[in-house]
Amino acid sequence: HEHTVPGELGDPVVQAAEVPEPGAVTIVVPTFNESANVRRLLHLITESVPARLPCEVVFVDDSTDDTPEVIRAAAEDCPFPVTVLHRDEPVGGLGGAVVEGLRAAGSDWIVVMDGDCQHPPSLVPELVATGERAHAGLVVASRYIKGGSRAGLAGSYRVAVSRGATWLTKSLFPRRLHGISDPMSGFFAIRRSAVTADVLKPLGYKILLELAVRSRPRQVTEVPFVFQDRFAGESKSSAQEGLRFLRHLVGLRTASPVARMVGFGLIGATGFVPNLLALGALTAAGMHYVPAEILANQFGVAWNFLLIEHLLFRDRRSHRRWWDRVGRFALLANADLVLRIPLIALFVDRFGMGALSATALALVTTFVLRFVGTEALVYLP
Ligand code: GDD
Ligand code: MN
Repeated sequence: HEHTVPGELGDPVVQAAEVPEPGAVTIVVPTFNESANVRRLLHLITESVPARLPCEVVFVDDSTDDTPEVIRAAAEDCPFPVTVLHRDEPVGGLGGAVVEGLRAAGSDWIVVMDGDCQHPPSLVPELVATGERAHAGLVVASRYIKGGSRAGLAGSYRVAVSRGATWLTKSLFPRRLHGISDPMSGFFAIRRSAVTADVLKPLGYKILLELAVRSRPRQVTEVPFVFQDRFAGESKSSAQEGLRFLRHLVGLRTASPVARMVGFGLIGATGFVPNLLALGALTAAGMHYVPAEILANQFGVAWNFLLIEHLLFRDRRSHRRWWDRVGRFALLANADLVLRIPLIALFVDRFGMGALSATALALVTTFVLRFVGTEALVYLP
């Protein structure tokens, strides 16, 4: 009795591994005022999903119109369970809604798609089947591979924005987004076991990007799709959503302590602009350059504070009141300035360094102290 041939004894586990079952799928649909689209969407899903693929649909709704009622009425004609999770406190926007849906999903596979019929439900079985076949954790429906297109992206302005955003995002995360041609897609299938809901910090539209970067599914594949025209109504995206996307990018990019320190330095460097502008204005107005320099420095400090608050420590602000944070931040920034002169003197007198290298070393030293101090004393972990 050497080896048992796999499958010979009818071992159900082995058989399952050899002939992948399609499993079951939970379709998660974020909705914001889509009452004119949801009936059509449910109809298309009913037509698309074959009986052998057990399916449930979870709407995560932040609407202010009657979308939930329309969904419930339409659900009565559906051969699969339909749930509406209405959020009274819509945190995280579209991405936050999707994460709620991921948490509520009961199947091994989850497909996320929009509620306005721009994502063809006919692709749902293929997304899941492709994931099973490739043993993938994530299957992206892409507009940018052969067979896909962005037909429904109305207007050259939106096409240009979408292109630029895709390029920027791919350059910021070359490794995490390797093999994903369309990180901006809102249409994808993900294995429930690949979702690490607790590490996600969704912020706005780009939930696929959030999952790809923070949940890091081990194997990713793509399936082409044609981005359709919106069935009814208008896109809920806006310029404000664009700004939210930039904050999202910075948040993802500065998740590690080292990256955060680099971000802190870059923001600090931009502080020279308001600092010098204020210095120019104050001395032009006749102020002596010493008090002018001290005052101008506060403009740089204020600028840095605002950027650091909103970009770097967005989720770590709640520990202290805002005036407490301003005070501590300003104290550290000015201490930096005061400390620099004696430090340079120390490096020159005690260690015999040249003035230039002593200044450079003092700058680096006070920068690191200021970063560590800001993390520890202004924004507790
Ligand atoms: N629950 C919830 N909360 N749903 C939202 C919210 C929100 O704050 N904002 C938008 N939605 C829903 C909409 O109701 C719709 O079902 C879906 O999310 C997509 O919103 P649209 O407003 O139609 O987005 P879009 O067409 O401009 O953008 C889509 O395509 C882009 C690619 O060009 C989205 O899929 C984007 O993620 C994608 O990048
Ligand atoms: Mn849309």
